[in-house]
Amino acid sequence: MLSCAVPLDYDCLVTRREEVLPGVVKIFFQCEGIAATALPGQFVQIEPSPGTFPVTRRPITINSLTDDGFELLFDVIGRGTELMAVMSPGDTVRVLGPLGHGWMTDPGSKWLLIGGGLGAAGFQFLKDSVDTAAILIGASCSDRVIPLDASFVVTEDGSTGSRGLVTSLISEEHLSNADSIAVCGPVAMMEAVWKTIPEKHRHKVQISTESRMGCGWGVCDGCSIPISDGGYKKCCKEGPVFPGTDIDWKRWKEAGL
Ligand SMILES: Cc1cc2nc3c(=O)[nH]c(=O)nc-3n(C[C@H](O)[C@H](O)[C@H](O)COP(=O)(O)OP(=O)(O)OC[C@H]3O[C@@H](n4cnc5c(N)ncnc54)[C@H](O)[C@@H]3O)c2cc1C
Ligand code: FES
Repeated sequence: MLSCAVPLDYDCLVTRREEVLPGVVKIFFQCEGIAATALPGQFVQIEPSPGTFPVTRRPITINSLTDDGFELLFDVIGRGTELMAVMSPGDTVRVLGPLGHGWMTDPGSKWLLIGGGLGAAGFQFLKDSVDTAAILIGASCSDRVIPLDASFVVTEDGSTGSRGLVTSLISEEHLSNADSIAVCGPVAMMEAVWKTIPEKHRHKVQISTESRMGCGWGVCDGCSIPISDGGYKKCCKEGPVFPGTDIDWKRWKEAGL
């Protein structure tokens, strides 16, 4: 039985805004409550616009922590993120969080991080919290490679790094050097990565999932991810990070978002 303890809702002050890539914005928020409690892989539900459309909040992964708050890095794709993108220093925004179940980190574990495009938003926080063996990033073009100090980058058009897909970077050496493997990106990319990883390494894999969300904390049933036992788990509460072995890739892809 899942607990439905109400998460904390904060008034957060916007302290800085940067456009890090075309249409990709980083916003810094002052919020000691979230800075003191957030774990890598958790997200927040942010109110794009007080009292007007869109009514529902938007889920965004905590990209990293600062001394007195946190930062979000997001792609502007629709009305909610358009409104968020014009937030500016001095604005106060309602933010619910930290939410969800993040990366399962064991002390001393060495991590391999595999990200696709904007899916790598949130890796900064994980990178700051664990020992990373390597970071492999794939993106469509240089405009989609977020600043992360990755070990290897490939792009589909060759505009940064070599031309190719992130699966081409995955080697037996990377996999055997890692105790834990974090994967985050579009569903098709994550499935391709999962299929590239040999069976013997799959128990190390954790997948950061996404779903359209309503409440963000387990009460509306709006964010089910199909699970390999035939059932579903809530992306917002039991995830968004799941062991790779939990995911039913076929049903997840069929469900769309
Ligand atoms: C747990 C979680 C963490 C997330 N973290 C980040 C992050 O760190 N950075 C970031 O840029 N985005 C992140 N997202 C995605 C982000 O929530 C959506 O892009 C955002 O809600 C879109 O809102 P909108 O009003 O701008 O677009 P909408 O008008 O709601 O949608 C515009 C278009 O985008 C599609 N869309 C909406 N939501 C998603 C989604 N979740 N994934 C893919 N397509 C979607 C819609 O189907 C539609 O076609 C995260 C999502 C989840 C569930
Ligand atoms: S978004 Fe409401 S239960 Fe997950």
